[in-house]
Amino acid sequence: MNTMNVDVKSLINEGAERTDHALDALIPSVDTVPASIHGAMRHSVFAGGKRLRPVLVMQAAVAVSGSIPAGIERLGAAIEMLHTYSLIHDDLPALDNDDLRRGKPTCHVAFGEAIAILAGDALQTRAFEVLAGLECPPAATVEIIGLVANAVGTVEGMIGGQVLDIESEHKKPTPELVDAIHRAKTGALIRVSVVAGGVYAGAKGDDVKRLDLFGRKAGLAFQIADDILDMTADSATLGKTAGKDLAVEKATWPAVYGIEQSKKDAARLIDEAFAALEPFGERADALKALARFLVERKN
Ligand code: IPE
Ligand code: IPE
Ligand code: MG
Ligand code: MG
Ligand code: MG
Repeated sequence: MNTMNVDVKSLINEGAERTDHALDALIPSVDTVPASIHGAMRHSVFAGGKRLRPVLVMQAAVAVSGSIPAGIERLGAAIEMLHTYSLIHDDLPALDNDDLRRGKPTCHVAFGEAIAILAGDALQTRAFEVLAGLECPPAATVEIIGLVANAVGTVEGMIGGQVLDIESEHKKPTPELVDAIHRAKTGALIRVSVVAGGVYAGAKGDDVKRLDLFGRKAGLAFQIADDILDMTADSATLGKTAGKDLAVEKATWPAVYGIEQSKKDAARLIDEAFAALEPFGERADALKALARFLVERKN
């Protein structure tokens, strides 16, 4: 088998469905008091995300153990909660000030700023509560919690990347700066999805390092693709406002290298990412196909 034989659309649809069931079971119902925040959490989580991080979690596990381990959808769901929290806060007036997300009004537009901030906070704490109850061996659970917390954090993690992103608006970006922003604000969560999925399936030592390297390359390529789509796709296709990056002079990959070079860089990073997975053989075919999809997607 090779990546050409993988039906990546079915892989994503099946993984997304499994993730959505887990999310529905794990997030309090809209009737649970206080109802407004649970409505806001569910509004953003179920607005129509692609669920790429949970699918990466599952397929990284397949690369390690050959099958999707029981209960891994809860790890994917926790990471999706963290990702959705990052989107809710990313869209706030104080950050990117967006009113469209996943094809729906953003959380603060639908529920007000206070509830949106708290919904983001709540998705973060619920995610760690879910991680604490994972059904993998306790040592793996503790390792995963540490890795995920680090990836969301301030030092080369999502929050740190968001700080750099906001502070770099309206400045001429350097290659080093945009690299640091992208690896942190988006790359870290993609990388940890791959690594945590592997650890859940029992990966140790060199295998964890290989998944980390793959996740790093694929994560950077993912944000380069996001930057390209912001400039080349329309809002209806994206489900979020297109053309925003140029308007506020964001530090993007195309702002430094131009669109054509950015496309080449994203494709090159995916090829480099594949090399890290060679020792896994055919078991990593689906993970590779998924990585290719990260940069070839249309939204
Ligand atoms: C968008 O991520 C935000 C970034 C980190 C670039 P996705 O493109 O995965 O968004 P959803 O989850 O499908 O909405
Ligand atoms: C978002 O980067 C990164 C996080 C949400 C952490 P962007 O600001 O480029 O994401 P979009 O384009 O709004 O989805
Ligand atoms: Mg942003
Ligand atoms: Mg944004
Ligand atoms: Mg963007």
